[in-house]
Amino acid sequence: MSINEEMNKRRTFAIISHPDAGKTTLTEKLLVFGNLIRSAGTVKGKKSGKFATSDWMEIEKQRGISVTSSVMNFPYRDYQVNILDTPGHEDFSEDTYRTLTAVDSVVMIIDATKGIEAQTLKLFKVCKMRGIPIFTFINKLDREGREPFELMEEIEEVLDIETYPMTWPAGMGKRFLGVFDRHHEQFISYSGNEEETYIPYSDLEKPEHQELVEHPTYQETLEELMLLDEAGDEFSMEKVMRGDQTPVFFGSALAPFGVEGFFDTFIDMAPAPAPRRSTEGIVSPDDPEFSGFIFKIQANMNPQHRDRVAFVRICSGKFERGMNVTLGRTGKTFKLAQSQQFVASSRGTIEEAYAGDIIGIYDPNVYRIGDTILTGKTNFEYDELPQFPPEEFKKVTAKNVMKSKQFKKGIEQLVQEGAIQLFKRYRFEDYILGAVGQLQYDVFEYRMKNEYNVEVELQPLGERIPRWLKEGQVDESLFDERNMLVQDREGNPLVLFKNDFSLRWFQDKNPDVDLIDLFEVN
Ligand code: G4P
Repeated sequence: MSINEEMNKRRTFAIISHPDAGKTTLTEKLLVFGNLIRSAGTVKGKKSGKFATSDWMEIEKQRGISVTSSVMNFPYRDYQVNILDTPGHEDFSEDTYRTLTAVDSVVMIIDATKGIEAQTLKLFKVCKMRGIPIFTFINKLDREGREPFELMEEIEEVLDIETYPMTWPAGMGKRFLGVFDRHHEQFISYSGNEEETYIPYSDLEKPEHQELVEHPTYQETLEELMLLDEAGDEFSMEKVMRGDQTPVFFGSALAPFGVEGFFDTFIDMAPAPAPRRSTEGIVSPDDPEFSGFIFKIQANMNPQHRDRVAFVRICSGKFERGMNVTLGRTGKTFKLAQSQQFVASSRGTIEEAYAGDIIGIYDPNVYRIGDTILTGKTNFEYDELPQFPPEEFKKVTAKNVMKSKQFKKGIEQLVQEGAIQLFKRYRFEDYILGAVGQLQYDVFEYRMKNEYNVEVELQPLGERIPRWLKEGQVDESLFDERNMLVQDREGNPLVLFKNDFSLRWFQDKNPDVDLIDLFEVN
């Protein structure tokens, strides 16, 4: 098969949701379709099951959670599916955001009883900003939930995206009859068990469906459908591809109901890998030369060897085991000896892979987050990965001052790896860390102790609002503990404002100072 045919088969996506909306349950069903697991219930055993999240790090075992997002890949129909997992609530970290730079589309699960929740909103914003196509699955229709129209309105208003219901539910909870599949013009009837009956609209007239058609809930839904046809937005594939419209499906991951139909439609509509921007212009995914970028580095997968694995999203060409590649940043060439493809926690060696696939390569401590690796005569780098706004800042010191050398080395490496963000205070030797989730601090503390033998003290500075300053506008006398003047990794000046009020107050007093917000999500 040609590189073009191979890459066109790839469907690489992430599932985003708020914890408890049903991501695990839905993923599990998809793995059953992909024959990766035989029956549901395997993924749920978060601590012991075969597809339990990795036990690569001790901290993961202790907390029974996955620190890093894992990757699942399987063939489905004519497609090659890659699902990138985004970790849940407490383990939310910059990795979660960065995962979204490696996918071509996103499935957003919403709990019909709750609507949009905080975490969905956060992740959604990143997708919207990057123009990633978003497909919505409204889950738990087997329960009494909120009115579908109300949910549509909430998605449109809160997320500022058009909705197009691909399916529309007839009732819910005990009254749930099934869904109208507007896309395929059929009614999918729900019987409370795993059986789904597909009835083409043209067959609904037949006597055997009389009971269904005369049901008051069915009749009410017909009116809703008419309203949708008349007043709803029209379906637009272009808008979907730009991330301006989301196709919406209703179902129940648990029953399961509507999952297979959703997945079939999604997989047909979801985009194959798209061209990406680089320093040498646009790179097409079917370019014969191999290229990819590193979106995550995972340390200590095997504590005995202290190895690190870099996760590469392939963007063009064909990957072959043992191939020579160039690191875009340095121009140095080396052999990719060890590589792995990830199927949940079982790591297998792979021989070849194409645009859209995610591979793990052994990292002898040379890679950085955002690095490009490639073959070919022209050296280039893909666009830098965005930096995400830390939500919590902490001052970090070594408990034992004698350990300052290891302390600095540890911080430097972990920052380079993208585990945490570092800021330095002006005129002071203070190190300030920034992270989007508490887990990043736990991992930082743990790794400083275990890998660099340094115990650290973390002093919370709370949530801060970071704003960058222009080089010529730095007047140190304007800042203090409250509104702290720091430098980022590149030495650029920024202020960590205590809160919104301090920020506004400062701006009122100093209207000539430009305060710049460099972060992608806010
Ligand atoms: P998450 O990964 O997004 O956190 O959610 P998960 O799939 O773990 O689901 C959270 C809870 O919601 C689970 O119940 C799960 O069984 C339930 N659930 C998921 N999909 C549906 C659905 O379509 N309908 C209904 N009624 N429930 C659903 P739990 O009680 O927390 O766990 P368990 O004891 O059932 O495993």
